[in-house]
Amino acid sequence: MGIRIVESSFLKSAVNPKDYPSSEFADIAFVGKSNVGKSSLLNSILGRKSIAKTSGKPGKTRLVNFFLVRFKHSENDELEGFVNFIDLPGYGYAKVSKGERESWKKMMRSYFGERVQLRGVILLVDIRHKADEKDLVMAQMLEEYNIPYLITATKSDKIPVTKAKGYLDELAKRFNIDRGSITAVSSLKKKGIERVIGWIESLIL
Ligand code: GTP
Ligand code: MG
Repeated sequence: MGIRIVESSFLKSAVNPKDYPSSEFADIAFVGKSNVGKSSLLNSILGRKSIAKTSGKPGKTRLVNFFLVRFKHSENDELEGFVNFIDLPGYGYAKVSKGERESWKKMMRSYFGERVQLRGVILLVDIRHKADEKDLVMAQMLEEYNIPYLITATKSDKIPVTKAKGYLDELAKRFNIDRGSITAVSSLKKKGIERVIGWIESLIL
């Protein structure tokens, strides 16, 4: 059974757990390097142009941003449900002070460690860039907190289709997983979005 997203709205931004919105619904969060395309993917899934703010300059998203998403079951329009999408600030941006890096870490650790609603994380990496130490540390952090995650290779429109396999193999080797478990997406060309939604469904239905 699939879902069809019918409505989404911005709930709030927060830094500390005491400011997170209380919710009876599951959280699905988006994480990855600055500029990798987290906010863009979130917009694509929601079918919205810019509910999550995007930017050509890295470091746009600085807070933990909560969105409320209403969906219907595709086979039964009468059945509906809700899920929260969380746009997280990116990491790995060089022009960030040590203090800012520390507060980012603290923000992530509180969110992963204290948000009981968190059900799964989409970990984004640029399909063209080999995942680096920071991406591997992020994957490790998610494992440490026992949070299911989906590795998603973004901006697939930037490489020729024939080269995708090679890039995905490279990423799979880095993360030590099967190539098949990495999802290539293009928010620009709306490619691979259904697969990401399918993974989210498997966690929330
Ligand atoms: P931070 O909030 O700074 O951490 O960045 P982010 O990961 O949210 O990235 P964002 O969605 O703001 O996108 C960064 C840039 O990449 C923007 O200029 C987007 O237009 C571009 N971008 C995002 N997704 C795609 C894609 O699928 N294809 C192409 N070609 N560009 C993309
Ligand atoms: Mg962003």
